Amino acid sequence: MEKSIFAYQSEPTEYIKSGDSGAIEALIPERFLQRQEPDLPQATEQDVIRHFSRLAGLNYSVDTGFYPLGSCTMKYNPKINEAVADLPGLAGVHPYQDEKSIQGVLELAYGLEQFLLAVSGFQGLTLQPAAGAHGEITGILLIKAYHRLASKKEKRRIILVPDTAHGTNPATAALAGYEVRQVKSDEAGDIDLADLKQNLSPEVAALMLTNPNTLGLFEKNILQVSKMVHEAGALLYGDGANFNALLGLVKPADLGFDVMHFNLHKTFSTPHGGGGPGAGAVGVVEKLIPFLPVPLVKKKGEKFYFDYKVKHSIGKVRSFYGNFLIAVRAYAYFLALGEEGIKKVGRQSILNANYLLRKLKDVYEWPYRRSCMHEFVITPKTGWQVNTLDIAKRIIDYGYHPPTIYFPLIVHEAMMIEPTETETKNTLDEFSAALLSIAQEAQTTPELLKKAPVNSPVGRLDEARAARQLILKYEKAR
Ligand SMILES: Cc1ncc(COP(=O)(O)O)c(C=O)c1O
Repeated sequence: MEKSIFAYQSEPTEYIKSGDSGAIEALIPERFLQRQEPDLPQATEQDVIRHFSRLAGLNYSVDTGFYPLGSCTMKYNPKINEAVADLPGLAGVHPYQDEKSIQGVLELAYGLEQFLLAVSGFQGLTLQPAAGAHGEITGILLIKAYHRLASKKEKRRIILVPDTAHGTNPATAALAGYEVRQVKSDEAGDIDLADLKQNLSPEVAALMLTNPNTLGLFEKNILQVSKMVHEAGALLYGDGANFNALLGLVKPADLGFDVMHFNLHKTFSTPHGGGGPGAGAVGVVEKLIPFLPVPLVKKKGEKFYFDYKVKHSIGKVRSFYGNFLIAVRAYAYFLALGEEGIKKVGRQSILNANYLLRKLKDVYEWPYRRSCMHEFVITPKTGWQVNTLDIAKRIIDYGYHPPTIYFPLIVHEAMMIEPTETETKNTLDEFSAALLSIAQEAQTTPELLKKAPVNSPVGRLDEARAARQLILKYEKAR
């Protein structure tokens, strides 16, 4: 266990002694001056470096190990992307620079948009939103603006969301002022067509759908679903968080989606987690282009420019042009993989997930007994004296990041595993061996799993208390 930095007892470090700080003090208004010495840790530079290096070594990341966090697409982030995003001409560009001096930046944004349009089949796009959820609210506001313009007596006040949806979907719809209605899934894990039919009405603005859905299953009735939604005068919103599985195989616009957000930080490989930064580009079909946020990046002859003349624009959704350096990484990723490489992403992610599923499906409960897409959901077997949390904690002892747990909500004790296409067969074999061994332990030594993790710097935490009683700063014992 690493001790607190305050526990170091080195000689006091006196970089600014009270006696010789007069010049600085003279610059600070009296009311801001604090007369007593700050309570700083007394550690040498070497102590500090060692302390933080050791702490940094406790972090778990895609660079240090397998990270099968379902729905998060924790794929390897090629280092070339970082090198490109670090180029001074890109990293150092100022948002108020004149268009003439940022032609390369605009060309890159334009080029990325063309790549995204090519793989999705949409006709218009914005790179502004800063995350998937931000893309969702942008997309739903586009839908709202579209319906408003289509009819003066606009009365579409409902958004339909399947029971498998990620929590951000209903939250987005509610934030945009809609009533949220849930649509059930059927026994096969697809959206229930009868329930959808019953819920569709002239009051429905859109259905928000994730495909593959959060069970890792391809919505096999998607063409029928989009037909039903469109016949009701509603639009089909695509949550593109799982787009990785479709990449190079299917274009969402061909499935009938009218608008979809991309999680650039997932599908197009950017380090993410812990709150960002991300990018939630939004692609749209032709009829929604007049509503896109301003500015759009356009090209005239050899010149690139920002176009603010978007007729019914919903306005800006983010300062300047979004998290641009995430777009740089995504662009580098496209260029590095090339057309042939991009085509293999979806295929390989599906193959990896199915390979892992086949190894685990007879030992764990497998609620939806279909081939999966890029991820799958399993649960502990009935009769085991352990729950999903115990298994997830035990996975830490085996040296892995646990999968997503207790999501999607419709599967009791869900464990959602997404290996991604960047993992080798070796890693998948080792991880499945760990899960099979944990399954054995669940039946022979359940008390061990109840205590897990036992080999980590921090043991089992009281998670409810940790979430409810936040203590975010170190309080030195007096
Ligand atoms: C299915 C799904 N939709 C939407 C989101 C929201 O994306 P973001 O975290 O980038 O806001 C996530 C994030 O995990 C997701 O898994």
